Amino acid sequence: MTARPPSRATERLGIGPADLARAATILSQAGLVAFPTETVYGLGADGRDGRAVAALFGAKERPEFNPLIAHVESTEEALREGLFDEAAERLARAFWPGPLTLVVPVSPDCRVADLARAGLDSVGLRVPSHPVAGALLAECGFPVVAPSANRSGRVSPTAAKHVLADLEGRIDAVLDGGSSAIGVESTIVACLGGPPRLLRPGGVPREAIERALGRPLDGPNAAGARPLAPGALASHYAPRAQVRLAARDVDPHEAALSFGPELPGDSVARLNLSPARDLGEAAANLFASLRQLDGTNPRSIAVGPIPEDGLGEAINDRLRRAAADRGEATFSA
Ligand code: TXA
Ligand code: MG
Repeated sequence: MTARPPSRATERLGIGPADLARAATILSQAGLVAFPTETVYGLGADGRDGRAVAALFGAKERPEFNPLIAHVESTEEALREGLFDEAAERLARAFWPGPLTLVVPVSPDCRVADLARAGLDSVGLRVPSHPVAGALLAECGFPVVAPSANRSGRVSPTAAKHVLADLEGRIDAVLDGGSSAIGVESTIVACLGGPPRLLRPGGVPREAIERALGRPLDGPNAAGARPLAPGALASHYAPRAQVRLAARDVDPHEAALSFGPELPGDSVARLNLSPARDLGEAAANLFASLRQLDGTNPRSIAVGPIPEDGLGEAINDRLRRAAADRGEATFSA
């Protein structure tokens, strides 16, 4: 294995070659290591090793029928794990490394364990662009499966301290690479024969993908398409407080989460996702803001309206899941 030398970027983040080597050793011995990506922090396990994958499901309390994303260092490695049709290859070349996951049929050489794929004959693949993630994957040389490093049902982590708040004592290490720049999870596109389908809006806006494909994306359950993994996308991103969407004002028992103009009214606490109405800034601040406001124990969090275009689709998707009725028989990834 030729390990990519840690770049100046990883050194700047305070992570040196010894840290990366230790993390890779822990992973290769069936341990669990959380690491930063450009979207959110992931909780990594050796994707080849059913024992490690089982421990990962256990630490997160995640149902085993919800498949994991396999992270690899390069597009070339990803092409070995899955069967890419023309659309999938086009998207890989356009957006990797970066916040896109492609669900494709498994290749005969796929190293990702059955359990990680929830027994499916497809695999979710991603090549992250974060320098620490890239250096760790290069050091490992095997696919690292990594869901968001939160306990199932909680808000995704965009900083090492969020990971520890949820998982301390359940994992072996966390690489602290600062705050995740994008702040919402990867966009997931399924290329399983037939038109590509958008399974989850995320860090690459739908418009950019449709431009690269030269056609609109289908929805997850397009007519005639193969059904998805059971329950795969019925996730919550739930703070403890209720979440009230498209709020025009806030009441004194609530916390306010504005986008642009401040929500009028007295409140327990308030934050603004982006005073300048910048959707990239709002995505980067979303999960940390929900965590922080939740910590003030409001009756509910009132969230101002956010446009649906660009990253707004992913932001609104996560907020709708956070606001969904807790009585529903759904679960979070
Ligand atoms: O940005 C991200 O994608 C982050 C970072 C850590 O890479 N990861 C992440 O993983 O969000 P997770 O486990 O929280 O969400 C993965 C989603 C799940 O909804 C899962 O059902 C879907 O990907 N998925 C994975 N493999 C699949 C497959 N073969 N078919 C359908 N859905 C799949
Ligand atoms: Mg998740």
